[in-house]
Amino acid sequence: MKRTYTILLLLIGILLQKSVAQDAKMKAHVDGLLKKMTIEEKIGQLNLPVAGWVPTGTTVSKDTEDKIKSGQVGGMFGYYDPVRMKAIQKIAVEQSRMKIPLFFGLDVIHGHRTIFPIPLGMAATWDMALVEKSARIAAQEATAEGLNWTFSPMVDIARDPRWGRISEGNGEDPFLGSAIARAMVKGYQGDDLTQNNTLMACVKHYALYGGAEAGRDYNTVDIGRSSMFNYWLPPYKAAVEAGAGSIMTSFNVVDEVPATANRWLMTDLLRNQWGFKGFVVTDYTAINEMTAHGLGDLQAVSALALKAGVDMDMVGEGFLTTLKKSYDEGKVKMADIDLACRRILEAKWKMGLFKDPYARLDESRPAKEIMTPENRKASREIAARSFVLLKNENQILPLAKTGKTVAFIGPLADNHRDMLGTWVIAGEWEKSVSVMEGVKNVAPQLNTLHSKGANITDDTAFIHRLNFFNQPMVTLDPISPETMLRNALEASAKADIIVAVLGESQSMSGESSSRTDIGIPESQRKLLEELVKTGKPVVLVLFTGRPLTLEWEDAHCAAILNVWAPGTEAGNAIADVLFGDVNPSGKLTATFPRTVGQIPNYYNHKPTGRPYNGSYQTKFQSNYLDSPNYPLYPFGYGIGYSPFTYEEMKLSSAKMSGNGTLTASVKVSNVGKFAGEEVVQLYLSDPVASISRPVRELKGFQKIMLQPGESKVVEFKITPELLKFYNYELKYDWEPGEFKIGIGGNARDVKEQVVNWEKSVRP
Ligand code: BGC
Repeated sequence: MKRTYTILLLLIGILLQKSVAQDAKMKAHVDGLLKKMTIEEKIGQLNLPVAGWVPTGTTVSKDTEDKIKSGQVGGMFGYYDPVRMKAIQKIAVEQSRMKIPLFFGLDVIHGHRTIFPIPLGMAATWDMALVEKSARIAAQEATAEGLNWTFSPMVDIARDPRWGRISEGNGEDPFLGSAIARAMVKGYQGDDLTQNNTLMACVKHYALYGGAEAGRDYNTVDIGRSSMFNYWLPPYKAAVEAGAGSIMTSFNVVDEVPATANRWLMTDLLRNQWGFKGFVVTDYTAINEMTAHGLGDLQAVSALALKAGVDMDMVGEGFLTTLKKSYDEGKVKMADIDLACRRILEAKWKMGLFKDPYARLDESRPAKEIMTPENRKASREIAARSFVLLKNENQILPLAKTGKTVAFIGPLADNHRDMLGTWVIAGEWEKSVSVMEGVKNVAPQLNTLHSKGANITDDTAFIHRLNFFNQPMVTLDPISPETMLRNALEASAKADIIVAVLGESQSMSGESSSRTDIGIPESQRKLLEELVKTGKPVVLVLFTGRPLTLEWEDAHCAAILNVWAPGTEAGNAIADVLFGDVNPSGKLTATFPRTVGQIPNYYNHKPTGRPYNGSYQTKFQSNYLDSPNYPLYPFGYGIGYSPFTYEEMKLSSAKMSGNGTLTASVKVSNVGKFAGEEVVQLYLSDPVASISRPVRELKGFQKIMLQPGESKVVEFKITPELLKFYNYELKYDWEPGEFKIGIGGNARDVKEQVVNWEKSVRP
């Protein structure tokens, strides 16, 4: 034992020494460069232009190659073509005076070429090994195409499903969000960023971007400090602690000051408190946008950003065009410019670029490493595990592979484009598997019928807004809606079961895709009503990038399988689940409200002084006249083909003190006919504290596999670390007293017990 311990200490010592020596080498290299660089060249390193074709802002970069030659570019994003990128790198390392290599970034968000479920779907797997695996494959493919940096993970907590970017994050919970943040960073960066199959992560959008008021993108955020620390900031912190190499500022204000100029956020908190050692990049033209925020002209806001701790300016060229002037006028110091430049050069060192600027620019890799059968297989498996079964009356699912006639109806049934979801820059929708193709692959003997039934939407003004970048993402069918409906009803008449494949198209969620009505688009809803009127069982396969309002669908459909936007293998994964080869095990990570009027509706809310007692329309109680408070589907919810039962939870003790460890255990049984996975969730609450604490908070989860009839005892170890929160003074600690410990299969159905936890044993 003693020997093992000594060896371990020795090993840690060697590793530490190695890393100190590496850091010293890096410092010496960067010092050497900084000494030789002109102020213009230093500022040049802070400039990040975009390759002409992905302008999500209003500005596009120009004359980039000339700028690279004259040392005015630090990195680029938008390319994923190693031949082209090699030529560009050559300009930097052969034709610029300092010969400093560029890095290349891209929004590799949920896969690069092989696309995985959108992040909100990935989160629904509650499976950190799968999340990490998806990021690892994304890194392998992206580096094969020349990239060394990804603008991911997006870890913004979101409580408002009107916000289109809820699809890009992990939902509403900070504990789960932090676990996913760590898994993503690990998957992208691996253990050694100099390896040519690793990508540097860029955590975004720091901070609080998901708190946009009214769910409107880029809107004001107004969140108090202790709320920030307890619910919104933890995932960024977790990603930083996991070693993320870079972080992106958000567009919004944080405590009245735009994040991009917020020194408290970028320096005091991020670097001084959290110990972040990487570099900060702005979001797309976020410096320039601070003029519209009311902070001054481009020169003023650029200086503010630099002094706040921002190192790199995405696309806007505020740094490039004004920092020298600000320096000459004494408005910024050389030390500020040096510091930002140092951080960019250090990132290049960490990526191994000074050793070999072409390490990830190997033209032979794509053919071998992109969209391999293994990657597609992983995408299929992960997608199937991200689906959430919301309803399954009379066990209508899974469907038998033969025997019955099944009509697949809806604009998403024979559709490739909308399988991938938002942010799939290198994803090729033409290579995705449609639902009809998946059904043919998995149940080739099944008697199937297909009819489109409706347009994704009939609203031409809406279509115009959905088709950005002049892409025909949503089109009107030349066949009239009436004829499409008639055809669908004819097909349905011949079927025993109807599978309605409906929901949001690709561009209905994601950036700049906020909606005030979050129902299934009207044309499709009308179709669904007609299908339900046939009296045949209707299974709804629902595509969505956000929680939708589904009260009517829940009341009228026999089953609802929420498949998000599943990625390249969509149709195969959907068929795997529909026909029972995979038992669905996904659980929601964002609450599904009943109506838009209930928003925000999230599980870890505070109690009010007039608590809701479960019946609405009660006078002088916090409730509505026309709706209950509780959502349609709570956080953590999702069923499978087999029911799971939870016995009474057991606590190892009802009285605890000091740093003891409490064990909470529960017996979970699979009482159905199908083997399946269940996510067992641990919730804590602190009913009496110095500040009002949420009614419950997720503090643990375990995904277990149970055979039919099998039971397992699931144990959670609870230490005071889990009881801690940021108090009014932002001190992170726990307060003694009573705690409720709960375990359940979702945030609503939780069995609780009370423990009394004192700070120390009383004499
Ligand atoms: C988005 C970021 C993204 C960037 C670069 C911005 O509009 O907010 O999430 O990484 O564009 O494409």
